[in-house]
Amino acid sequence: MDDCHVLLVIFPGQGHINPSLQFAKRLVNLGAKVTLSTGFSAMNRMSSRPEIQGLDFAPFSDGYDAGLEPADLNDFWASIKTRGSDAVAKLITAKKEEGRPFTRLIYTTVMSWAGVVARGLHVPVTLLWIQPATVLDIYYHYFTEYGDLFRNCSGKNRVVEVPGVPPLGVRDFPSFLFSTETNVNYDLDWAIEAMGDQIEEINGEENPKVLVNTFDALEFDALRAIKKVRMVGIGPLIPSAYLDGKDPSDTAFGGDLRQNSSNDYVEWLDSQPKSSVVYLAFGSYADAPNTMLEEIAQGLVKTKVPFLWVLRETSKGEKPEEKLRCKEELEEQGKIVRWCAQVEVLQHPSIGCFLTHCGWNSTLESLASGVPLVACPLWNDQFSNAKLIQDVWKLGMRVSANEEGVVEADEYKRCIECVMGGGEKGEELRKNAKKWKELAKGAMKEDGSSYLNLKAYMDEMLCSP
Ligand code: UDX
Repeated sequence: MDDCHVLLVIFPGQGHINPSLQFAKRLVNLGAKVTLSTGFSAMNRMSSRPEIQGLDFAPFSDGYDAGLEPADLNDFWASIKTRGSDAVAKLITAKKEEGRPFTRLIYTTVMSWAGVVARGLHVPVTLLWIQPATVLDIYYHYFTEYGDLFRNCSGKNRVVEVPGVPPLGVRDFPSFLFSTETNVNYDLDWAIEAMGDQIEEINGEENPKVLVNTFDALEFDALRAIKKVRMVGIGPLIPSAYLDGKDPSDTAFGGDLRQNSSNDYVEWLDSQPKSSVVYLAFGSYADAPNTMLEEIAQGLVKTKVPFLWVLRETSKGEKPEEKLRCKEELEEQGKIVRWCAQVEVLQHPSIGCFLTHCGWNSTLESLASGVPLVACPLWNDQFSNAKLIQDVWKLGMRVSANEEGVVEADEYKRCIECVMGGGEKGEELRKNAKKWKELAKGAMKEDGSSYLNLKAYMDEMLCSP
C-alpha cells in the first residue's frame, strides 16, 4: 500500500471539489496517498483545506487565478486544457524523478485532457464521474450508436429510448448537448467538445472502468448499460458522519469556495417545528435568472411556509433579493443567506423539503438526508436528474412551465405544498425519501456495495504491482 500514490486532477468548481475531497478521504482511509491538483481559480478562493495525513495539494495556474465566472467558461476551457496539460506533465515527471512516482491518475468529469497526458507518460488512468451513471449513459449513447435518435427527437410527446436510461423527452436531455429549455445563456461549445473528448477517451481504453458517484440500489441498470465500460458505484461521496458514521468528526467536505453567512441560521432552524421549513438553493455556479427568482419568491409568499434560501451574490456583485417585489414579506417569513453548510442544513430536523436546481451533489445530499425535493433544473445534467427524481426514484416533484415556458408562482406553491403537505402524494414522497436514505447509508457501510466496490478497485487497480 505504501507505494500507492494517486494524482487526482479535478475541475476547479465546488461541484467537483466536494465529491473529490470525500473520495480522497476514502482512498486515504484505505491506505493510499493522494495528491489533489486543480486550478488556482478555485484554490485561491478556498479559505481552508482539509488537513489530513496522506492528502496533499498541487495546484496550478489555469489562467484565471483571480477567479472564474460561468460566462468565462468557453475561454477558460481552452486555457485550463493547455496550462493544465503542461502542469500535470511536469508534476508527473518531477515525482518520478524524486522516486515517489504516481501509480495512477484519476480525473473528474470533463477533465479528460489529464488522462491523455498521463497515458502519454505511461501512468494508468481512471475517470471519476461526478454525475449520475444515467447521464454518462446518455452521453455515451449520443456520441456512439444513437446520436441520430437524440438529434431527431423533437416535440412534446416524442421520447428517446436507449439502454439503461428511462424514456427521455427533450426536456430531460442534459442541456450541454440538446436542451432548448435551459435557463441560462452561457456559451456551451466547450462543453460539447469536452463531453465528446470524454467519451472518446474512455472508448479508447482497453477495459475501461469508471468510478461513479452513485450506488447500486439507485442506478443498478444504468451502471450496467454500456457493455464496453465497467461502471462502479462508489457513492454517495458525502461526509462520513452522515452516512456510515465511521468518522463522526467528518461533518464537512472542507473546501468551500465561499464563506458561510453568519451561523445564526442554525439558531433560527432550531427554533422551527419539525419538517416545517423549505430549504432553497441553486448550487455553487449558475445564477438563476431574476424572472425565475421573482416567481419563486411570489410562490413562497403564497405558501406562508418558513424558508431558508441561499441567494448568492451574482457575478456582478448584486444581491438578488434587492430586486424582488416582495422582499419585505419574504424577510418576515424566512431567512435569506449567501451561503450555508448545506450538508448540515439538510440533516436538520426542521427541514421538510429542498427546492433545488438538481445539481448532482445537492440531489445526493438530499437523498442521503431523507429530504424530498422540488426539482427546478437550470442547465447541464440537472434536467436528467430532475427526470430521475420525479419519475424513477419518486423522491420529489418537478415544476412545470406554462405555454410560454415560464414556471409561475402558483406552480412553485403547488409543488412545495404537495411535497410538504399531508396528502397522499406528500406521504408517498416522504416514505420514499426515508427509503433512499437508508439505502444510501447501507451502500457506504463496510458490507455495502459502494464500500466493497471501492475496496475492490483499490486491491485490483490501485495497489496491484
Ligand atoms: C455542478 C453542476 O452545475 C451540476 O449540475 C453537476 O451535477 C455538478 O457540478 P453545482 O451547480 O455547484 O455543481 O451543484 P451541486 O452539484 O449541487 O454542488 C453544489 C455543492 O455546493 C454541494 O455539495 C452543496 O452542498 C454545496 N453548497 C451549496 C454549500 O455547501 N452551501 C450552499 O449554500 C450551497
